[in-house]
Amino acid sequence: MAMQRTTGFANAKPWVPLMLLLLLVLVVAGCVRAADDEQMRRGAGGGGKMRRRAADVMVPITILNSAVDGGAVCMDGTPPAYHLDTGSGAGNRSWVVNLEGGGWCNNARTCRFRTGSRHGSSDHMERSIAFTGIMSAAPVDNPDFHSWNRVKIRYCDSASFAGDTYDEALGLHFRGQRIWEEAIEHLLAAGMASAEQVLLTGCSAGGLAAILHCDQLRTLLPDAATTVKCLADGGLFLDAVDVAGGRSLRSYYGDVVAMQGVAPNLPKTCTDHLDATSCFFPQNMIDGIKTPIFLLNAAYDAWQIEQSLAPNAADPSGAWRACKFNHSACNASQLQFLQGFRDQMVAAVRGFSESSSNGLFINSCFAHCQSELTATWNNAAGGSPALQNKGIAKSVGDWYFGRAEVKAIDCPYPCDNTCHHII
Ligand SMILES: *[C@@H]1O[C@H](CO)[C@@H](O)[C@H](O)[C@H]1NC(C)=O
Ligand SMILES: *[C@@H]1O[C@H](CO)[C@@H](O)[C@H](O)[C@H]1NC(C)=O
Ligand SMILES: *[C@@H]1O[C@H](CO)[C@@H](O)[C@H](O)[C@H]1NC(C)=O
Repeated sequence: MAMQRTTGFANAKPWVPLMLLLLLVLVVAGCVRAADDEQMRRGAGGGGKMRRRAADVMVPITILNSAVDGGAVCMDGTPPAYHLDTGSGAGNRSWVVNLEGGGWCNNARTCRFRTGSRHGSSDHMERSIAFTGIMSAAPVDNPDFHSWNRVKIRYCDSASFAGDTYDEALGLHFRGQRIWEEAIEHLLAAGMASAEQVLLTGCSAGGLAAILHCDQLRTLLPDAATTVKCLADGGLFLDAVDVAGGRSLRSYYGDVVAMQGVAPNLPKTCTDHLDATSCFFPQNMIDGIKTPIFLLNAAYDAWQIEQSLAPNAADPSGAWRACKFNHSACNASQLQFLQGFRDQMVAAVRGFSESSSNGLFINSCFAHCQSELTATWNNAAGGSPALQNKGIAKSVGDWYFGRAEVKAIDCPYPCDNTCHHII
């Protein structure tokens, strides 16, 4: 060990070109990321106008090295991380806590693969990221939350921050629950312990995580006077029948839950009467959650159409290929199937919507995640999706601050001309 180190130092010079190469790779990777980001915005219907705005601050990463002692690690054993942009003025004692999304993994191959990406290792995370939409510091883009402390907790566990086990055979850590708890501990120490208001949010796998951890956050905050509410964006994953008559997502979730030791961390109000896999589906647990929740979801959730309703395994002939990537290419019977999916979503939130503290925004768009893009959260030009003439940022703000009750469910496609379809 010591020998090798000495040798390394003695021959320091040959490393210089390597270091330069590494630097170049990092720069190029950064450009590719920026291009991806741009594509996402375009994909979300922003057109050519959505170039990064000067107001979109880049927020540096904080690596939580001390979390490692408590076993809170990414899949490859590296420390977890978050990005924090501190609040100011009136937002000084208010916090938006955002759980990053990005799918899951359900077997050795897909989990190993993620350790080579930012979703399995902090070694691969961007050193700084842009905060946009509900995370933006610009008043015009984010009228209600721009001055709050805003933090994004990075996702590197692959079970929506809810697993807790170590797979010895694979050498993979599944410690999402510990990452969640450690990150909250760090934030409490950074000032969140004296928060007046907190909004837990996230999109996709992060939206599901926001639902799963909503009541937990309430109990982790020391001051009972703190207002706690949760916004799940694109997190309403349904236990739906796919185009082949099977249940692709249920079988996938079954693998995720079993492999990553998720069961003990699911809401007890669900697991006391249903199996763990069922309790990974929001429809089976939202009625038991006490902390107020806002569900923001496209009725024709693009991710669910592609991956849950018509995944390749359920569509071997490729009859759904055109439709699942382009809603204009769906024929009448395919649209009828998708209307059935919307009906299930509306039915799934019926009991939930009876609570006056909950909020809903289910728009009839082919989209997935609408709160973190400028164009869909609160396009200053007025082009963001709306229900009852109210955009998403205003709807969420009205619910959070109790300015109005928001229980908006759109009429079936194609009645909504404010959509930003991504397929
Ligand atoms: C809020 O502002 C006060 C003084 O202006 C400062 O002492 C405190 O640390 C701030 N709190 C947070 C959470 O930033
Ligand atoms: C619509 O697409 C389905 C495949 O999902 C196909 O079986 C059916 O024949 C098509 N219907 C029409 C009217 O083209
Ligand atoms: C989507 O499908 C429609 C109808 O088939 C077609 O006219 C259009 O070009 C397709 N769009 C894309 C981007 O492929």
